Amino acid sequence: MNLTLKIWRQANAAAEGAMHTYQLSGISPDMSFLEMLDILNEDLAEKGEEPVAFDHDCREGICGTCSLMINGDAHGPEVTTTCQLHMRSFKDGDTITIEPWRADSFPVVKDLCVDRGALDRMIQAGGFVSANTGSAPEANSVPAPRDKAMRAFNVATCIGCGACVAACPNGSASLFLGAKITHLGELPQGQPERHTRVASMVSQHDHEGFGGCTNIGECTAACPKEIPLDVISQLNKDLRQAMREGH
Ligand code: SF4
Ligand code: FES
Repeated sequence: MNLTLKIWRQANAAAEGAMHTYQLSGISPDMSFLEMLDILNEDLAEKGEEPVAFDHDCREGICGTCSLMINGDAHGPEVTTTCQLHMRSFKDGDTITIEPWRADSFPVVKDLCVDRGALDRMIQAGGFVSANTGSAPEANSVPAPRDKAMRAFNVATCIGCGACVAACPNGSASLFLGAKITHLGELPQGQPERHTRVASMVSQHDHEGFGGCTNIGECTAACPKEIPLDVISQLNKDLRQAMREGH
């Protein structure tokens, strides 16, 4: 495949960025999107030019490190992570536009890398769950209803990639936050701090500059782990209860 790439280049957080155009040839449809960028970077390095900085780690859809707005969609045209996107989703001769996550709370570090530390700080604000010291408790001594355990497990698959934020016109992290609140709130172990946790995490969410949720639903459509929109209802219910309790 022969491709034209339009890529956001920005030397550092303070520098002004701009789109740059690159021509790339000999790309196999079986390559992953990140392997295609590796080929571009090899070409740039051979020419003595600065390679394009982009985030990646596991390349297996597990860690949430890869990002990229591809032709205006978070993680590109498929509902998956960028590392699991393959070039067969594009056609020979295509022009592909590649930008960093666009959200005020995710400042650009360099080129396509953004700082997603705000998501970590929200988790940190949630604090720890109470746990008795001593040896690990016997698993069946804390019964959890199967439907709640399955829901907790399903929403715990959130990998913290931030695609929901990048896709949301409000730059809200409500889907991410709802997933974290729900996965602990469904389980018996998450009950003691349930309402202080939601109050602290929502406060940190707003402090980081994320926008509010207006039920647009772009977040869940872009989520590679198919986190459902109703975790935001759970988040709001828990927050209402926390406010009633004065947290
Ligand atoms: S909710 Fe989905 S899109 Fe948002 S951070 Fe978690 S996995 Fe990524
Ligand atoms: S690099 Fe880990 S999920 Fe994409």
